[in-house]
Amino acid sequence: MPSVPTGFQPFSAQEEASTCLEQLLEYEDRGLEELGDCCFVIPAGGLGERLGFSGVKFALTADLTSGCCVLAVYASYIKAFEALAQARRGKPCTLPLVIMASSDTETGIKELLERNNHFDLEPSQVSILLQEKVASLADSNATLAMEGPYQIATKPHGHGDVHFLLHSSGLVAKWQAEGRKWVLFFQDTNTLYLMTFLCTLGVSARHGLEVNFVAMPRCAKEAVGAITQLRHSDGRSIVVNVEYNQLEPLLKATGHPEGDVNGPDGLSPFPGNCNELLFSLPEYAAELQSSGGQLVEFINPKYADSSRTAFKSPTRLECMMQDYAKVLGPQARVSFTRYPLEFGYFPCKNDIATAARLASEGTPPHGAASSEAAVYHAFGTMLSLLGAKVAPAELRQWRGGPQLMGPAVVLWPDFAPCFAELRRKLGSSASSWNLAPGCSLEIQGQDIRIDALDLAGALKIRVVSGASLHIQGLRVQNKGHEFVALSEAEQSGEAPESLRIRGYRLVAHETKVIEVLEPGAFVLDLDGELKKV
Ligand code: UTP
Repeated sequence: MPSVPTGFQPFSAQEEASTCLEQLLEYEDRGLEELGDCCFVIPAGGLGERLGFSGVKFALTADLTSGCCVLAVYASYIKAFEALAQARRGKPCTLPLVIMASSDTETGIKELLERNNHFDLEPSQVSILLQEKVASLADSNATLAMEGPYQIATKPHGHGDVHFLLHSSGLVAKWQAEGRKWVLFFQDTNTLYLMTFLCTLGVSARHGLEVNFVAMPRCAKEAVGAITQLRHSDGRSIVVNVEYNQLEPLLKATGHPEGDVNGPDGLSPFPGNCNELLFSLPEYAAELQSSGGQLVEFINPKYADSSRTAFKSPTRLECMMQDYAKVLGPQARVSFTRYPLEFGYFPCKNDIATAARLASEGTPPHGAASSEAAVYHAFGTMLSLLGAKVAPAELRQWRGGPQLMGPAVVLWPDFAPCFAELRRKLGSSASSWNLAPGCSLEIQGQDIRIDALDLAGALKIRVVSGASLHIQGLRVQNKGHEFVALSEAEQSGEAPESLRIRGYRLVAHETKVIEVLEPGAFVLDLDGELKKV
C-alpha cells in the first residue's frame, strides 16, 4: 500500500522569510558540525545521448555569466566546504570526491581534470571509478544484440553501479576507517545541488537518517520519481523512490481510482526525487558488506510496435542508485528533505529541440537554457529570502522554448556556500540590496562585505583568497549584459556548441569590475575609491 512518508521541509520560499530562515539556519549549523566528515560521489558514466553534446557533461557551461563548467562549480563547493569545516574544527580538512566514469566518459573526464589543474582540488582527493557496460538485448526473446559477427553490443548498466564500485574499490571501508560519517550522491549536470547541502546534512544528523532523499515539490502525474512509503500487508514498510510511470498504476490498484492527484496547494502529496541522496556512512558500509552493493535490476525496452516483441533499439539490464533504499530492511531510517522548487532538480539532459517540445507539452524541458535560468533564479531567491530586492523574472522566448529569466546572479561557493555564510556576509544590509530587471551580478571571494548595492547593469566582484573587501555602498548603472538569440547561421554551426545547446549568447555591453588581486584588507568607499587599510 503506497502512502506519503514522513519527511522534513526546512523552509518554503512562499513562507514568511524570517520564520522559515531560522529553522534552515539551525539545520545548517548542525550540518556544519558534520561537514568535515563528508564524502562526495558523482556517477558520471552516462552516455548523454539525449543531450547530444560532444564533450562530457561535466564540461557543460553551467551559466554564461561565470562561464564555469559544471565540474568547476562542484569543485568550488567542495573547496568552500573544506574552508568552512576547517574554520569550525580548527584543523585542516580534505573532502574526498569520487567520480564514476564509464568507457564513454573516462577519457573526457580525466582530460577535463588535467586541463584545469583538478579545479584546485588535490589530485589525490579525487578518485575515478570505472563502471563496465553490459550486454544488450535485441528483442523480447533476449537475443543478444551484436555489434559485429563476433562482438556483442554493450550499453551502460545505470548509475546504480556506483554502490558496487565503492564497495569493491575499498573506498567505503577506507572512509570508515578514517572516521568519515556521510556520503552524498548527486548527478553530473545540476549545479543547484550543493546550495542546500549543509541544511540537508543538518537534517540527516539531527534526525539520525540513514538515507535522506533530497526532494522538491511535484505536480500530480509529473514525470519525476516520487518518494513513497510502501507498506506490506504484514505491516513491514519501506521508503523508496517510485518511478512516475509505476506510481499511477500502483495507486489505482490500491484503492485510489484517481491515481496521483494534486492537493489544495496544487501539488501532489508525493515529493519529487531530485536524485541527490545523503547516506549515513556506518550503516552504508555495513549494508555493503552484506549485499556487496548489488541492487535490483530492471529493463525498460522501447518497443517498435504494438506486437511488443521487437525493440526500437537494443536494450539492457539497468540499475539505479536510489534503489539502494529497496535493499534496506524495514528498520532503516529513510526519509526525505523537501526544498522549494527554486532549489530543485534542473539538469541539462535534453537537446534544444527536445527541450522545446517538452516545454510546449508543459513538461520541464531539462535543457541547457532551463538549467542556466535555474542557477540565476536560485541565487536570486537566496538573496531575496535574506531581504534583498530582486527584480522578478521575465519571460524570454528561446529556440528551446519559453523561459523565465531573472537577474543573472552568480554567487560563487567561496562567497556563499550556504545561507548562513550569505547572511553573515550581508549582515543587516540585505534590505539595502536592489537588483534591477535584466542586471547581472557575479561575486567571487571568501571575504567580501557589501553594505548597500543598487545594481542596474552588470557588476563583477572578485577578491582573491587572503584578501578582504568591504564595500561601503555601491551604485552601478551601465549598459550591462544582454542574452541574445542566436541567428540561423549561428544556430546551424557558426556558434560554439555550448551556445547552440542554449539557443542564445551573452553580449557583455558594459561591466563594472571590482577586483582585489593581492592579499590585504581593502575598502571601497562611498566615493568609489578602492583603498588598502
Ligand atoms: P541521465 O538520466 O542523465 O542519463 O543519468 P544519461 O545516461 O547520462 O543520459 P542519456 O540517457 O544517455 O541521455 C543520470 C546520472 O547518472 C549517470 C549520469 O552520468 C548522470 O549523472 N549515469 C547514467 C551513470 O553514471 N552511469 C550510467 O550507466 C547511466
